[in-house]
Amino acid sequence: MKNLIDIKRLKKEEITAIINRAAEFKAASQDPARGEINYTSGISDFARLGERLYRANSCSNKTACLMFFENSTRTKCSFAIAAQKLGMNIIDFNVQTSSLSKGETLKDTLDNLYYMGVNTVILRHSEDDMTERMSKEVKFPMAFINAGDGKSAHPTQALLDYMTMLEKLGTVEGKKIVIAGDVSHSRVAKSNLALLSKMGANVHFFAPEYFTPKNKEEFNVIWEDDYNTAITDADVVMLLRIQTERLSGAETEKAKHYSEKYCLTTERLEKYAPNAILMHPGPVNRDIEVSSELLDSPKGKTILEQARNGVYVRMAVLENAAG
Ligand code: CP
Repeated sequence: MKNLIDIKRLKKEEITAIINRAAEFKAASQDPARGEINYTSGISDFARLGERLYRANSCSNKTACLMFFENSTRTKCSFAIAAQKLGMNIIDFNVQTSSLSKGETLKDTLDNLYYMGVNTVILRHSEDDMTERMSKEVKFPMAFINAGDGKSAHPTQALLDYMTMLEKLGTVEGKKIVIAGDVSHSRVAKSNLALLSKMGANVHFFAPEYFTPKNKEEFNVIWEDDYNTAITDADVVMLLRIQTERLSGAETEKAKHYSEKYCLTTERLEKYAPNAILMHPGPVNRDIEVSSELLDSPKGKTILEQARNGVYVRMAVLENAAG
């Protein structure tokens, strides 16, 4: 059983191995005749095309449990699709209707799930480091995958972002990657910084004062003071969602004016970083972080490609954990 708690703990070779495996899964899902993903062919075609790959590391007798204490579309659905493609059983644990509401602890819940046959737990939680805590408290051999916890880490997001950058740029080494927006509440920014620095990228952060972490000096990153200067000649501009659910009252008031200064428009991107790849982990706050015009343009499609790569990266992560 192999946990995935935080990118910081992965070696470069381990990251590369996950990405290579994800690329194999993605290649197996391509329709060779058309050279692109055949969305209409469904799982059976996918399984047929990738049969040889899947047989190598079967997960088919394994059961994964999605435990999402915070809302999600991309992470939860792509983990579910990834598990299905690997032939795993998947349980969508409903936090609200579970016996957690009767006072059962999460640790006791997990112990019971293990005895029912769950081998892999995919956990999203509002508290920092909850995945690690549970991985230590539960003494049974279950694999724990962090699907985003608190403000601390979102490792599979960083992996799928890295895969997307590799597809577009070939390498991130020496590339200027700008991550801009609500840095202080973002687990995505932290996991991306950890991964991209490890892989040799030049990572820059920009955040307005009210979204700048108090401990900014502790981040091994280039802090930018001005948004336009930050994105100038960037290879990648990654925007962050304003985490409205985590803002204080004062931050909420200030964030109301965010779009006036920092909404990325087509004009702005063309002026300062015409060759940049536009990325966003999603969900996007339209016309707040990025204009609808830019989001709906060909540049905005990379954001959907990130979501697609999430399936393959999560297949690789699940196989590693449970296979
Ligand atoms: N990027 C991301 O984690 O999206 P979801 O919250 O929809 O899973």
